[in-house]
Amino acid sequence: MQTIDYRSDTVTHPTPAMLEAMHRAPLGDDVYGEDPTVNQLQRVSARLLGKDAALFVPSGTMGNLASVLAHCGRGDEVIMGTRGHTFLYEAGGIAALGGIHPHTIPNQSDGTLALEDIENAIRSEDVHYPPSRLLIIENTQNACGGYAIPVDYTRATADLAHRHGLKLHIDGARIFNAAIKLGVDVQELSKPADSVTFCLSKSLCCPVGAIIGGDADFIERTRRMRKMLGGGMRQAGVLAAAGLVALETMIDRLAEDHTRAQHLAAGLAEIPAIHLYPGTPQTNMVYFRLASDARMGTTELVKVFGSEGIRIGGHGDEFRLVTHYWIDDAAVEKTLVLFKKYLS
Ligand SMILES: Cc1ncc(COP(=O)(O)O)c(C=O)c1O
Repeated sequence: MQTIDYRSDTVTHPTPAMLEAMHRAPLGDDVYGEDPTVNQLQRVSARLLGKDAALFVPSGTMGNLASVLAHCGRGDEVIMGTRGHTFLYEAGGIAALGGIHPHTIPNQSDGTLALEDIENAIRSEDVHYPPSRLLIIENTQNACGGYAIPVDYTRATADLAHRHGLKLHIDGARIFNAAIKLGVDVQELSKPADSVTFCLSKSLCCPVGAIIGGDADFIERTRRMRKMLGGGMRQAGVLAAAGLVALETMIDRLAEDHTRAQHLAAGLAEIPAIHLYPGTPQTNMVYFRLASDARMGTTELVKVFGSEGIRIGGHGDEFRLVTHYWIDDAAVEKTLVLFKKYLS
């Protein structure tokens, strides 16, 4: 039985075309800058983002950490959302390894940070305060429901940050999902920022890797940070080859994942024991809560779905189901039949 795995788009395996490209990739030592496949992936990524340069890193977490370390020094402050991945789920790396102070402000229900809150969070020059150095926004905003953050808002945050001498970093782990949802070229979202990361290993299906984009100077600094963090890889072209296939073939198809998430949500909405979050799904994530009188609790439901070959993620009474390349229409149909069977 083939497992249908909704826990995240990080569970995606490489496609046959990726495996073939990985097999054939020309290789070199990337710490010496000599891996032709990595260099090619970095060139293509930079062009796609409309940036001078790009760097291949092992993970989105390292991409964000290396970027923050390259923008900030010890004692500097970074403004970010309370629902931001860098604040919630990156093991406090910026504080632990960089001595950098996170200053959180609430995310709005659409994933954005209120411009007024950002402005109020920026410190004035005073010996009592840590210097505000960087603003981070996330696109799509995962923990708020996978919201695509619009172009105008991105420009407004960049203008605000720059007016006060801060840089803007975008955690764009799923920025291509955002671009597809908004119907814009990804450059419209990436260009206003000083740095952007995106993940290859999520909805783009690669086994490993993320990209940082920025100006040439900044990328040289992140290269040093990557080395310091132990992320300098050698014949990394075997991984970068999958990235090149992903950028060529996996971006436009993200619309299919969004459509399947809508179909899934529409079916779940017919089940009284399921309370969909308002606005869900925005992109490839369906968020919902179980009613308190549901026939099964979270643990039991996760277990029974597991025995049917479907992996779902539930914490407390909250569920997140993520659609991706390896979930087709038949998988969605089967899932809806089972939800109806166990919860109606
Ligand atoms: C929004 C966001 N940023 C960053 C990351 C970190 O990526 P990685 O798991 O590759 O470290 C994730 C991972 O899920 C994410 O959802």
